[in-house]
Amino acid sequence: MDTRLISVDPLDNLKALYEEVACMMREGAIVALPTETVYGLGADAFNAEAVAAVYEAKQRPSFDPLICHLASARQLKQVAIISEELSELVEQLTKQFWPGPLTLVLPKQDCIPDIVTSGLATVACRVPAHEVMRGVAKALGHPIAAPSANRFGRISPTSAAAVMKELEGRIPLIIDAGACSEGLESTILAPCIDEKGKPAVHLLREGPIAREQLRKICRVIRPKKLGAHAAAQLKEQQQQGNEEQQQGNVVSPGQLASHYAPSKPLYLHSPRETFTPEEDVRYGLISYQGESPLASLDCWEELMPLSPGNGRLAEAAVRLFAVMRAMDECEHVDVIIAEELPETGLGYAMMDRLRRAAHGSQQ
Ligand code: TXA
Ligand code: MG
Repeated sequence: MDTRLISVDPLDNLKALYEEVACMMREGAIVALPTETVYGLGADAFNAEAVAAVYEAKQRPSFDPLICHLASARQLKQVAIISEELSELVEQLTKQFWPGPLTLVLPKQDCIPDIVTSGLATVACRVPAHEVMRGVAKALGHPIAAPSANRFGRISPTSAAAVMKELEGRIPLIIDAGACSEGLESTILAPCIDEKGKPAVHLLREGPIAREQLRKICRVIRPKKLGAHAAAQLKEQQQQGNEEQQQGNVVSPGQLASHYAPSKPLYLHSPRETFTPEEDVRYGLISYQGESPLASLDCWEELMPLSPGNGRLAEAAVRLFAVMRAMDECEHVDVIIAEELPETGLGYAMMDRLRRAAHGSQQ
């Protein structure tokens, strides 16, 4: 299959293009579309066959459900059930953060095919801020089910060129609207009632909406077992026929310990501690600002700063996946070392991605 690339300027009037893409999707096509977080691989969420083609193109296991992208918050009630006790919290969250990089996991309506949610009783939804994803969803009139447009387990694409590298020949069309403005996948929350009977949220994935922002609205519960134990937990969950879900223990099936992985080994290292290189190994350093004691060692064949000189977390977030990808493609680097980042604000989400990228690399 030839993969066509159409480049657009999101500031132009793109209505005709949105209609054309929606028309293709109505016929079952899958299309890579930009969002403000990362590029997504979209299908009409109501077309189970098209959704199956998304899993196939990504080589994604069927147990890992997709996010539904809505044209507006008004669509939420069509796809999700909002209980009375959670309605105020959901309204607060959607008013403050939609359109934007926040995904809510709620009990699903029957119109959502099981393949979208991997058989779970809940559906993940968000209204993206990016004009193109939202414009196509509006033209389609249905939600767009879209995971990140990378092959399973790999680094998420923050540019159309990265999507091309991941999925060329496997999908018919990529809409290129330039680099993503957030650079990290959405924050995923499951609203719930906590043990004290108060509305709260389970934080299923760290993302651009940071814990500190959420805490101003409600209690944020961090599922303890996510991360290293998620894979084992998931297996158990599947064997038990989703008993975990029935008991109200929310897990995000796609949050496996090893994820966002470059093909080279990646290790995390403190920017202040010294580093002893092994002989005959060529190292590349992903540094926060490029000016730490670690960065000033002379053992780096390649040094890529995330926020050169400035140390701005937002800039580092936008560049993180692109820099990981560039380092992975560097022919003169065998092993990637990544500096640990400050764990505050966006730093939580970036450290989450780096830890998963490092998981499985043995030092
Ligand atoms: O920013 C984003 O969220 C991007 C863009 C394209 O919107 N999408 C994205 O999708 O990152 P994906 O498929 O790469 O990650 C979605 C995550 C997975 O970890 C999946 O397990 C989780 O959302 N998820 C989806 N539905 C869920 C559900 N019903 N319950 C719990 N977790 C769910
Ligand atoms: Mg993904």
